[in-house]
Amino acid sequence: MNEQQRKQASQIKQGNPADVKSDSDANLDRLKNMDSDEMIGKYFQTTYEPPNLKKAKKRLKKDVDIHYDFSIPKEMQSIGDGKKFLIRTYGCQMNEHDTEVMAGLLTDMGYQLTDDTKQADVILLNTCAIRENAENKVFGEIGHLKPLKLENPDLIIGVCGCMSQEEAVVNRILKKHPFIDMIFGTHNIHRLPSLLKEAMFSKEMVVEVWSKEGDIIENLPKVRKGRIKGWVNIMYGCDKFCTYCIVPYTRGKERSRLPEDIIQEVRHLAAQGYQEITLLGQNVNAYGKDLDFEYGLGDLMDEIRKIDIPRVRFTTSHPRDFDDRLIEVLAKGGNLLDHIHLPVQSGSSAVLRVMARRYTRESYLELVSKIRKAMPNATLTTDIIVGFPNETDEQFEETMTLVKEVGFESAYTFIYSPREGTPAARWEDNIPMEVKKERLQRLNALVNEQAKQAMEKYEGEIVKVLVEGESKKNPDVLSGYTERSKLVNFRAPKSLIGKIVDVKITKAKTWSLDGELAEQTAGVL
Ligand code: 5AD
Ligand code: SF4
Repeated sequence: MNEQQRKQASQIKQGNPADVKSDSDANLDRLKNMDSDEMIGKYFQTTYEPPNLKKAKKRLKKDVDIHYDFSIPKEMQSIGDGKKFLIRTYGCQMNEHDTEVMAGLLTDMGYQLTDDTKQADVILLNTCAIRENAENKVFGEIGHLKPLKLENPDLIIGVCGCMSQEEAVVNRILKKHPFIDMIFGTHNIHRLPSLLKEAMFSKEMVVEVWSKEGDIIENLPKVRKGRIKGWVNIMYGCDKFCTYCIVPYTRGKERSRLPEDIIQEVRHLAAQGYQEITLLGQNVNAYGKDLDFEYGLGDLMDEIRKIDIPRVRFTTSHPRDFDDRLIEVLAKGGNLLDHIHLPVQSGSSAVLRVMARRYTRESYLELVSKIRKAMPNATLTTDIIVGFPNETDEQFEETMTLVKEVGFESAYTFIYSPREGTPAARWEDNIPMEVKKERLQRLNALVNEQAKQAMEKYEGEIVKVLVEGESKKNPDVLSGYTERSKLVNFRAPKSLIGKIVDVKITKAKTWSLDGELAEQTAGVL
C-alpha cells in the first residue's frame, strides 16, 4: 500500500464503517489468527463449496434476482486516479467479455489501462479451467509475476475467472503463491471494487468465491475492446453437465437475461456504430428456459434481426436444444449470419452417451440436414474431443466419418483432459497419450483438408468483409472476416477500417484468403 492509498483507506474506514466491516472483513480477521492449513479448512467451511455434482444438480431453477442498482462504492470511485491496470485473459469469449466488465469497473475507479506489467498497479489474471494446459499456463504466469511483486509491494495481483471456482486451485495459491493479493470467483466480478479495497487494507490474501449463484447484475460498466465488434451476454451458466466439463461448476446454473435488457444493449451498440455483435452463452440454445414466460433464442433472434446492426452471430450452441423455431428465424437471413458453430464432441453415439450429450450421431446428422435445408449455404464448424475414457479405434473412426459427412469447414479439436470434480474424472483416463496424439493429428489433417477445400471455393468470388484493422503480419495489409467467418487479407486504405466492403478473392490458403478490393468498392474511394 502506498502513502496515498493509505490515506484514502483510512478515510474510507472513517467515512463508512458499516461498509468496511463486511462479512469478508470478519473472515479476514479470523484468517489472520489461524495457521495455514487450519485457515484453509475453516475458510472453505464458511464461504466456499468445492464442485459437487449432486448438490450442483439439485440447484433450483428459480431464485434468479436481477439487480439494476449497481454502483461503485463512493470511496472507491477515484482510488485508481493516476494508477494503471492490466488484465490477462485466458479462455473463451465469455472470459474476454468478463474482462471488458472488469476493465469498466477499474476505469470507473480512475485506473487507466496499460499493457506493461512494470507500469501496472493492479494486475488481474482472468483464468480458464476448461483443460489442464489452460491452468498450467496461468500457474506459469503467476510465477513470472512474483519478481514484480517483490520489486513493488504496492502492486495488487488478483486471480479471477473459472480457475478460482476450483477448491484445489485456491488451496494451491494460498499455500504456494502467498504473494497473490486476491482471488475472486466468476460470481463475484461486481464485487471487484470492494475486494480491491480489502486487498489494499489487508496483509492477508483476500478470497471471495461464491458457490451460490443466481443473481444477474445489470448495468455493470464495460470498456469494450473495440468499436467494431461487440459481445452481448444473453445468459450465464450451464445446466447440461456433460460428464467431462467443469463449466456447470465454475459458471453455475443457467440464468437468462431478460429480452428487453439484451435488446436495449444491442440497440445501444448499434447506435454507437458497432457493425457486428455476438450473443454469448455457454449453451445459448437454452436461452429462456428459466424465464417464467415462453420465450426462446429463436424469439430473441427474431427481434434482434430487426435492429439496424449489420451482423449478428451467436455462440455456443448445443445440438440438443437447437430447435425448429431458431432454424426458421435464422433462415430469414438479413443480419443473422449463416455460420453455425455446433459442437459435436464425438461421432460415436456410444461415446456421446457416456459424455451425457443427450443426442446421438443420427440425431445430430438429422439436425444438420434440417439446418442445410433451411440454409443451403450455411457454414458449420464444431468442437471435438479425442481420447475420452474407453474411446475405441472404431469409435474414433466414427468421429472421422462424421466430420466428412457433415463437411465441417473448421473445428476446435482437443485431447480429453480430466477435470477434478466432474464425473468423467472418476473414470480411468485409459487412452495412452501417444494414441490420443495420433488421433488428434489424423483428425486435424482431415479438418485442415476440409478447411482448405472450403477456402478454394472462394477463389474468384466477391465476398463481404468487415474490415477490423491492419494484418498482424503486415501493417500495409488490412484484415477482416466474411459473413461465414473466413479471414481475408487485402491491401486497401486504412479509412476502410470498421466498414463492410466487397473484396475479390485472389488466393485461398488453409486458414485465410487473400484478396483485392472489388471494383465497386474501389470506385467509391
Ligand atoms: N477435455 C478436453 N476438452 C474439453 N472441452 C470441454 N471440457 C473438456 C475437457 N475436459 C472442450 C469441448 C468444448 C470446448 C469449449 O472445450 O470440446 O466444446
Ligand atoms: Fe460444458 Fe458446453 Fe456441455 Fe455445458 S454444454 S457442460 S459448457 S460442454
